[in-house]
Amino acid sequence: MLMKLQLSLSVILLLACGFLYQFTQKSSCLFPHLPPYKSQQGLEALLGHGRSIVFLETSERMELSPLVSCAVESAANVYTEQPVLLLMKGLNNSMQLPPNSTSPALSLLSAIDNVFLLPLDMKSLFEDTPLFSWYTQINSSAERYWLHVSSDASRLAFIWKYGGVYMDTDVISIRPIPEDNFLAAQTSQFSSNGVFGFLPHHPFLWQCMENFVENYNSDIWGHQGPELMTRILRVWCKLRDFQEVSDLKCLNFSFLHPQRFYPISYAAWRRYYEAWDTEPSFNDSYALHLWNYMNQEGRAVVRGSNTLVENLYRKHCPKSYRDLLQGPESSVTGERGPGNK
Ligand SMILES: *[C@@H]1O[C@H](CO)[C@@H](O)[C@H](O)[C@H]1NC(C)=O
Ligand SMILES: *[C@@H]1O[C@H](CO)[C@@H](O)[C@H](O)[C@H]1NC(C)=O
Ligand SMILES: *[C@@H]1O[C@H](CO)[C@@H](O)[C@H](O)[C@H]1NC(C)=O
Ligand SMILES: *[C@@H]1O[C@H](CO)[C@@H](O)[C@H](O)[C@H]1NC(C)=O
Ligand SMILES: *[C@@H]1O[C@H](CO)[C@@H](O)[C@H](O)[C@H]1NC(C)=O
Repeated sequence: MLMKLQLSLSVILLLACGFLYQFTQKSSCLFPHLPPYKSQQGLEALLGHGRSIVFLETSERMELSPLVSCAVESAANVYTEQPVLLLMKGLNNSMQLPPNSTSPALSLLSAIDNVFLLPLDMKSLFEDTPLFSWYTQINSSAERYWLHVSSDASRLAFIWKYGGVYMDTDVISIRPIPEDNFLAAQTSQFSSNGVFGFLPHHPFLWQCMENFVENYNSDIWGHQGPELMTRILRVWCKLRDFQEVSDLKCLNFSFLHPQRFYPISYAAWRRYYEAWDTEPSFNDSYALHLWNYMNQEGRAVVRGSNTLVENLYRKHCPKSYRDLLQGPESSVTGERGPGNK
């Protein structure tokens, strides 16, 4: 099994290398003077250390919203020594995008040294995991929440195989997470699956994948997502309510306080799009989940609005701020996707 894993890793890396060359022309496969983690061995070594930051785009969409771009850019700024991966279903190995057809967000991100845009091939990702048989039997066009469910599955498999931190594409990073193995509480006694991190092959995630398949119910939104994480967390730990702003320890991983990623609760998500007299310091947070899924009314980040979210962009993703935001006249609705619920 180890051999197979290594093999599929090298295949992914090979594709990645080829892809980066075709797509961004900055390939380290050919330019050894690039920083070490840009070379194939370097990338393999870092993936091998289980320290990558992973974002997923499970739709075929190739246009990224400013928020997705901001999430990835902010992670690249916080985790400068780690590879930040954006895995996209719409990319594949046969792809040869002329540089002029790329979206502004894709060209912005692919120019960042530690950001890697990679194809998301679910079939090979699920190989050697409990999800493989589920995936090969399912008729995805009959599934009600396929983009979400396939995203839930992919994040479990990726972090189980390679380790690292998974983040939704509406999470803005503000400082490093000082934990290797953690789940994030959304509220007391309830885990999210929008951010989590584990070293490779942690049995918690294996159990999540088994339970995903055994208890699969495609009609209940979140059943394979936050509810799954919470179910398995209850098997591993006796959960208490949080005391003040301290985290809980659960065997060999941590259950992080809602303040770490959800300092503004989902019911109050519009506060991000308002101007504050005094902005919160977010001193107890590592990253901010913007609840884009709640944003059905399509609020956009507008330059010059002095909203909390505008100021977060300016500070934590200055390139996305500069290149992608609209001025006050031309607001259009932001995109919503399964990776950013
Ligand atoms: C690549 O992606 C395109 C668009 O999603 C698809 O039509 C095509 O079949 C894919 N090619 C391969 C080799 O997977
Ligand atoms: C991209 O550039 C090629 C060659 O210069 C040109 O033929 C093509 O129309 C351009 N595509 C777009 C989308 O601008
Ligand atoms: C998959 O589901 C779609 C939509 O319900 C249906 O039209 C199609 O026949 C199904 N395909 C298979 C192979 O069952
Ligand atoms: C965590 O604990 C589980 C169960 O005791 C064990 O199997 C696993 O190897 C441990 N993992 C780490 C990273 O310590
Ligand atoms: C937040 O942290 C900064 C720097 O550590 C400190 O100066 C500031 O007083 C803190 N703010 C709050 C509200 O705790």
